[in-house]
Amino acid sequence: MVFETLEWKGDIDGYLELIDQRVLPGRFELLKCTTKEQLFEIIKTLAVRGAPAIGVSAGFGICLAMQTLDSNEDLSGAIAHLNESAEYLAKSRPTAVNLFWALDKMKVCAEKFAADKPEASLADLQRTLLDLARRICWEDQFSCREIGINGEKLIKDGSGILTHCNAGALATAGQGTALSPLYEAHRKKRQFKVYIDETRPLLQGARLTAWELMQAGIDATLICDNMAGVLMKQGKVDAVITGADRIAANGDTANKIGTFSLSILAARHNIPFYVAAPVSTFDLSLKSGDDIPIEQRDAAEVAAFGGNRVAPEGMDVYNPAFDVTDAGDITAIITEKGVIEKPNTEKIAALLKG
Ligand code: MRU
Repeated sequence: MVFETLEWKGDIDGYLELIDQRVLPGRFELLKCTTKEQLFEIIKTLAVRGAPAIGVSAGFGICLAMQTLDSNEDLSGAIAHLNESAEYLAKSRPTAVNLFWALDKMKVCAEKFAADKPEASLADLQRTLLDLARRICWEDQFSCREIGINGEKLIKDGSGILTHCNAGALATAGQGTALSPLYEAHRKKRQFKVYIDETRPLLQGARLTAWELMQAGIDATLICDNMAGVLMKQGKVDAVITGADRIAANGDTANKIGTFSLSILAARHNIPFYVAAPVSTFDLSLKSGDDIPIEQRDAAEVAAFGGNRVAPEGMDVYNPAFDVTDAGDITAIITEKGVIEKPNTEKIAALLKG
């Protein structure tokens, strides 16, 4: 990619640098994040967004939190502080499971470190945690690439592909999830056209996916969300591919609001509907999508467009940020470990175990 969505700069006393996705595509600005409180705001206000990118940032957020400790803090005090910081960061957004997955990894790592090396210093613990945060970051880059390699065959020459929200490089530390097969197919010089749903209310499609695909020189056309059905009817869409924020044990998938409607439209038109996600997006503790917590966001996001109020003052608004697509309407889930066709509980458990 020609840009890094997020990057840790320096050693244990370093900081996290991120692209500010709130101001793209108008401005390309980098944020210097030095505290966990700043990261909380950055996640909550969607300066960094997309399930894998949120998870990777949270790992580094723990490293930032550990910088505030006194240098002679003992390990049990340091771990108590880590656990409190993880609990705090976990409240930034509720749906993308990668956030909780990364925070758990950091907690488990610190506890194991303290049990194995009770005499170690705080600096040793900080270094171990930074190593893990960096590993979470490069594993995400690797997973994205593998998702691309596994999914690229599904992008047929001459096809039209519809995508929703932004599940590209901006949503991950690597080359994206849903967009990764497109990048791989493009590298192979395959010809295809992408339709980008604008993705109301926050326009991740119009602002971010459009920007990203233009940078990559991929043929793409922007549509309003309510145009997807007519495009399918006209035969312009051969496959839909989206990312995921959380996939339950049975394959039900939470993703950006509007994904569920697309899955129904795709089923109606016999169009394959693919979900692309790393294994860190699966939550096997939840039996089905009914249990996935759905983030409710501020009314102002719906009542206004591009910062200008469009609805009358005082209008009631409903603003769920995600919806759940039934596993039965998903043709396949593309992961870094392989493709799960017609996903169900058994197939998902088998792939994740392997
Ligand atoms: O609210 P957002 O922008 O964080 O929502 C992002 C999505 O819904 C993405 O499709 C999902 O996180 C997958 S990102 C690879």
